[in-house]
Amino acid sequence: MPSAKKFLVTSGLPYANGPIHLGHLAGAYLPADIFVRYHRLKGNDIIHICGSDEHGVPIMLRARAENKSPQEIADFYHEKNKASFAAFGISFDYYGRTSSPVHCKTSQEMFRKMAEKDVFILKTDKQLYDPKAKLFLADRFIIGTCPSCGYTDAYGDQCEKCGSSLSPTDLIDPRSAITDAKPVLKESTHWYLPLADSQKALEQWIDKHPEWKTNVLGQIRSWFSEGLKDRSVTRDLTWGVPVPEDVAKSQDVEASGKVLYVWFDAPIGYISATKEWAREQGDPDRWKKYWQQDDTKLIHFIGKDNIVFHCLIFPAMLMAHGDFILPENVPANEFLNLEGDKLSTSRNYAVWLDDYLKIFDPDPLRYCLVNILPETRDTDFSWKDFQARFNNELADILGNFINRTLTFIHKNFNGQVPDKGKLDSSDKELKKLLSEAPQKVGHYIDNFQIRQGVREAMDVARFANKYFNDKMPWKTIKSEPEICATTLSLCIETIKTLSVILEPVIPFTAEKIKKLINLPNSKEINEWDSSGKFSLPSGHMLNKPEILFAKIEDDIIEKEIEKLKGPAKPAEDVQTEENLITFDEFSKVDLRVAEVVKAERIPKTDKLMKIQIKIGNENRQIVAGIAEHYEIDQIIGKRIIIVANLESTKIRNEISNGMLLTAKDNGQLTLLTTIDDIESGAKIS
Ligand code: MF3
Ligand code: ZN
Repeated sequence: MPSAKKFLVTSGLPYANGPIHLGHLAGAYLPADIFVRYHRLKGNDIIHICGSDEHGVPIMLRARAENKSPQEIADFYHEKNKASFAAFGISFDYYGRTSSPVHCKTSQEMFRKMAEKDVFILKTDKQLYDPKAKLFLADRFIIGTCPSCGYTDAYGDQCEKCGSSLSPTDLIDPRSAITDAKPVLKESTHWYLPLADSQKALEQWIDKHPEWKTNVLGQIRSWFSEGLKDRSVTRDLTWGVPVPEDVAKSQDVEASGKVLYVWFDAPIGYISATKEWAREQGDPDRWKKYWQQDDTKLIHFIGKDNIVFHCLIFPAMLMAHGDFILPENVPANEFLNLEGDKLSTSRNYAVWLDDYLKIFDPDPLRYCLVNILPETRDTDFSWKDFQARFNNELADILGNFINRTLTFIHKNFNGQVPDKGKLDSSDKELKKLLSEAPQKVGHYIDNFQIRQGVREAMDVARFANKYFNDKMPWKTIKSEPEICATTLSLCIETIKTLSVILEPVIPFTAEKIKKLINLPNSKEINEWDSSGKFSLPSGHMLNKPEILFAKIEDDIIEKEIEKLKGPAKPAEDVQTEENLITFDEFSKVDLRVAEVVKAERIPKTDKLMKIQIKIGNENRQIVAGIAEHYEIDQIIGKRIIIVANLESTKIRNEISNGMLLTAKDNGQLTLLTTIDDIESGAKIS
């Protein structure tokens, strides 16, 4: 027996400013989960660490847009994402978060130790500053016109329209995203990681890893050939891990208003989450076994946009600090596209995991995604492909094989594993395939060729289906019952092997299969390496077959495709725990039908109209922003819906007594009216 290996697996911490979509899953979490599940089945010592990345400017921007605090945003998405990963079967050992006290302390200690070792360089620079808000502006907080395409809302670091990467000074007419003020330059002092000095050591270390994926090595080489530049690891912001005061003081810098850069603290999140995990295990020092003993293999699963941070910057930090191991491999994936287009959170062009899980089970998506993992280049998810893989592979091959085997045994062998007789050459061929499969599949997974590994596993099912056909047990049951018994007994062995080697990919189904064949819960039988060998004894009682995969019909898939074409909807659920109101609250709102009697535009405004309405016998005036969408004579005489018991207010010196209801679709506004003619004044409930 080779001795157990020790692994520490991490998946990139997703930002807690939005939900999880297919791109995230295919980039990091699914391959990581398959890798980890496989090694657990091999009996290796492996933990999978992840969590929420709660800092950074995108979270601040989101909070601002929603009128919430950054912590509220992070709390919401932390819980949401943690739950959807669990529902999808991503089996983290620990899902931490970077707003935790342990994380704050761990990051500050790391920073302090590096400062004590004199790793950082202090530089004072002129930075863009919002004089109105009295804040230094991170790149994302500066908006202006893109010099490449003329888009007027480009960010200081990137134009989302044309994709060019920018620096704030490239922008034409820059303005602050917070106050619209024109930014000015102001001096500020920051700590820099001298990456230029680390390049040699990093190059020597990377040279020892020619086995890394070529897409990863390619990116690293291009960074090297451009020459690494020093990077500031602190920011003038209020949201993040505060720069430790003692360190700042000893260097005569004012700490307040400064935090660690999000890309400095986030990867330290892997360490702090491991500490919290160890604590939870009742063995607080156990994290050291993974982070400080060099027989641990540290593997970072990430998407390609994270390569520089995991292959160069974080390792440079770890080296400088000195007490930690370096990654053994960083199997970064390329990107997943959706129906031929780039996924985009801001345009809400994505399949969100939560939405998916409302309609389908996890395993079909796990299986489909694993077949299109962007391991070497960008790949494309399409709903038609999803449907085809499910119907033609999971249902027709795997499901069918299991179903016909169990059905046959229940009909002809009282539901018991039949006796195995003498093996002929095709029986032997199947046996050989089974005994070799775990090793073969495992070899691919170990080399991060997970697609290929799963294909090998499915080939076993493919072969077995053909074996069943060729053996024609429905004939041999009468002519040669012993041969028939052998065939079916080997089919059960195959099912048992499949239930183990497919478990990392389709864990929920594997569980069901194990129940169907009544697999004892013993470690020996369930272990990866022996899964192609041990057989269930003859006479072992099997359960009745049940359909594992009911085919997905066209209309279901059409609906999903339609959703993607639809107008941009907010990424959040319409109904969340936070926005729920009680029935009593709702019934306070007095909605009425009203008739428009007269309308006029309010001079010197584009949007506003002054509208006289009748609610039953009562006459009222309402001011509404519909002048860009309706002509006056289009609305006279219309029955509309209004909120009748809203406090009155003054808009442009005109009294507005109530509010009319409209619906907005991609900027197009429509007045709500009633289908049938109904008296004005009618109450709506
Ligand atoms: N939040 C980052 C992203 O989504 C990833 C952080 S990975 C970590 O791109 F290493 F910093 F944690
Ligand atoms: Zn542009």
